[in-house]
Amino acid sequence: MTRHTTRTARTAAGRALVVAALAAAGAVAPVGARMAYAVASPAGTAVATQVRSGTPAGAVAQAAPRVAVLATARNVSPHGPYTTTSDQCAGCHRAHTAKSSALLVDTAPQSKLCFTCHDGTGSSLNVAAQYTDPSVKTNDPTTSSYYQHDISKPTAHILASGDEFGGVFNRHTECSDCHDPHQGSLVNAAGSPTGTPWTPSGRLSGTSGVAVTYSGPGAPSAYTFLDGGTQPITAEYQLCFKCHSGFTQLLPHDPAHPSTDMLDAATEFNPASTSFHPVLAPGTNQTAAMTASLAGDSPYKLWNFTVGSTVRCTNCHASAITMAGTTSHPATNTPTADSDLPTHASSFRGVLIQNYQDRVLKTAADPYTASDFALCYLCHTDSPFTADSGVAATNFTKGGKSLHYLHVSNIRGIGTPGTSIDQAAAGDGNALCAECHFRIHSTATTAAQDARLISFAPNVTAVSGSPVWTATATGGSCALVCHGTDHQSVTYGP
Ligand code: HEC
Ligand code: HEC
Ligand code: HEC
Ligand code: HEC
Ligand code: HEC
Ligand code: HEC
Ligand code: HEC
Repeated sequence: MTRHTTRTARTAAGRALVVAALAAAGAVAPVGARMAYAVASPAGTAVATQVRSGTPAGAVAQAAPRVAVLATARNVSPHGPYTTTSDQCAGCHRAHTAKSSALLVDTAPQSKLCFTCHDGTGSSLNVAAQYTDPSVKTNDPTTSSYYQHDISKPTAHILASGDEFGGVFNRHTECSDCHDPHQGSLVNAAGSPTGTPWTPSGRLSGTSGVAVTYSGPGAPSAYTFLDGGTQPITAEYQLCFKCHSGFTQLLPHDPAHPSTDMLDAATEFNPASTSFHPVLAPGTNQTAAMTASLAGDSPYKLWNFTVGSTVRCTNCHASAITMAGTTSHPATNTPTADSDLPTHASSFRGVLIQNYQDRVLKTAADPYTASDFALCYLCHTDSPFTADSGVAATNFTKGGKSLHYLHVSNIRGIGTPGTSIDQAAAGDGNALCAECHFRIHSTATTAAQDARLISFAPNVTAVSGSPVWTATATGGSCALVCHGTDHQSVTYGP
């Protein structure tokens, strides 16, 4: 009841904002516009102000050329900056004949409006092609298999500048949930050699998000909604945290399948944890082997990050590199780390930019294949995995031999058949990375045994209780049963 009332109030306010701003732009002069303007929220006022001054607040300079003025007005970017005489509002809004929320010309979902141009006709940026690529599968929520941010169904969306997700179970992704249609540029995201998080690119400017404050390990002590107008996002991940953190309500877990859990990304990427992929801050592995892992080559190598750098969520989650070339992504199939990496739709589950086998165990018949872990090899060398002499880029060694190689290439036929990583004691093939690095974002605690992104999958069972893995001065020690093999405090190290 409360939510319904709020929603109605928000819809009415949103409508009023648009009417007022359109009037300010001189696009239409609806009766009562002045009154409507009086109730405009700061976000709406910002659009109206931009219109008057012709300078969108927070807009990034248009460094790269937009599609030059082509024969028809359709090919000119309608995303601002606007002037007082802009007649572009009507391309997307109608005061009287609107068909969806925010007085939009088209019926919901918003993608219908956006795809009138972003289908290769009105813009060189062909987003529709990514969604219609035949290699992209339909999401299957019953098995928690997601290949795309769904933009095909009408949703309960009102305005992204309003706080629609705070504490609420309201999973949806309209285009404007991630982009502000009134501003934008083709300026790329920027990283920093000193390890600050990646900035949002011009394609995400003006979008709303969520900032986090930590006062120690675990969940953030506070979330702050950033409306994208007066409070812009300053890091790319803040967009993702709007929908993938404890700020909102995440999908429920299926206890029988921990591999499909939707975790709180703000807790996972807390830099106070023992081990994590470095998105918010540089990581905790400063070893020479780690340096070599990131510097070395692989058949899939694209990016040379260092132990001091941060990475973007979109370096791992974006429309697949291997998808048939759209004009926008990937232009050359070799994006740089700062490139336009759209988290739209992929041929790989998890909206992953490259292939990663992590839920279905290998059978005794399956050989090691680099393509199964191509995602990892975008940044890490595969040398520890292809030969037992590949020890330079790993600390997981014994007697001068790579135990990474042993496990991923050389343990076929040992153990009990079974292909579900969620099933205790299953597995008789070569190991997957995910059997030992189950939570790839982070181990999310400060416990010593949660270093090195070591977290064992449910198919690995304990022998003598926790900890199943401990770091030692020169290596580590495991106490567990994996693929039928009893490791009673088996140690490794150079
Ligand atoms: C490319 C299409 C497009 C153009 C052109 C456009 N808008 Fe919008 N506008 C949208 C969409 C889509 C939304 C809904 C945003 C959302 O869902 O969060 C919106 C929302 C709004 C809102 C609601 C407030 C907010 O925070 O977003 C206002 C006000 C507004 N538009 C004013 C204008 C004015 C004034 C112009 C012309 C100067 C204009 N728009 C041009 C697509 C457009
Ligand atoms: C009238 C045609 C048209 C419509 C409708 C349209 N766009 Fe665009 N869009 C363009 C053009 C033109 C560009 C400039 C880039 C290019 O084509 O090279 C652009 C650029 C963009 C960019 C890149 C950043 C920038 O501003 O340059 C984003 C993101 C974007 N559009 C999102 C959207 C979304 C979301 C919608 C729907 C709410 C939408 N567009 C609707 C034509 C359109
Ligand atoms: C080093 C690569 C990498 C980075 C960086 C990364 N992810 Fe992931 N992420 C993965 C992999 C691999 C999976 C597992 C995919 C699957 O099995 O469906 C995953 C799963 C997910 C899932 C679904 C499961 C879950 O845990 O909720 C979400 C949501 C997600 N990532 C969001 C993010 C966000 C947000 C960021 C940035 C803050 C991020 N990821 C950074 C690799 C990465
Ligand atoms: C879940 C968030 C999300 C949703 C939903 C989303 N986008 Fe994007 N989009 C992104 C990200 C992230 C980028 C890459 C930004 C970068 O790396 O510069 C991007 C890039 C783009 C670009 C640049 C060209 C390209 O394809 O890379 C356009 C245009 C665009 N999006 C339009 C749209 C339209 C239209 C929709 C709705 C059909 C949409 N987006 C839905 C996150 C999203
Ligand atoms: C407006 C909300 C919204 C935003 C913003 C958003 N997502 Fe999502 N994302 C979703 C929804 C909804 C799903 C479908 C699963 C669900 O309901 O949790 C999803 C699914 C995913 C999945 C697949 C999950 C799986 O189990 O395989 C990944 C990965 C992901 N998002 C990453 C990202 C990243 C990275 C960003 C930031 C660039 C981002 N998302 C921004 C709403 C959002
Ligand atoms: C049998 C368990 C196991 C499997 C399978 C496994 N790893 Fe590891 N990995 C470890 C252990 C243990 C360490 C920690 C070594 C140390 O620093 O003590 C580690 C460390 C790493 C490191 C840090 C650098 C290093 O090697 O010291 C990377 C990168 C890595 N693993 C990637 C992978 C990838 C990619 C895969 C799959 C192709 C994989 N691992 C499969 C156990 C495993
Ligand atoms: C976008 C680049 C990128 C991708 C893709 C990537 N990693 Fe990493 N990974 C890094 C960086 C950078 C570090 C170094 C963090 C540090 O210094 O602690 C790292 C560290 C690690 C570590 C060691 C963490 C620790 O605390 O010791 C492991 C294990 C690891 N990665 C495994 C993987 C696996 C498995 C995959 C594939 C699913 C993968 N990585 C994909 C960039 C990447």
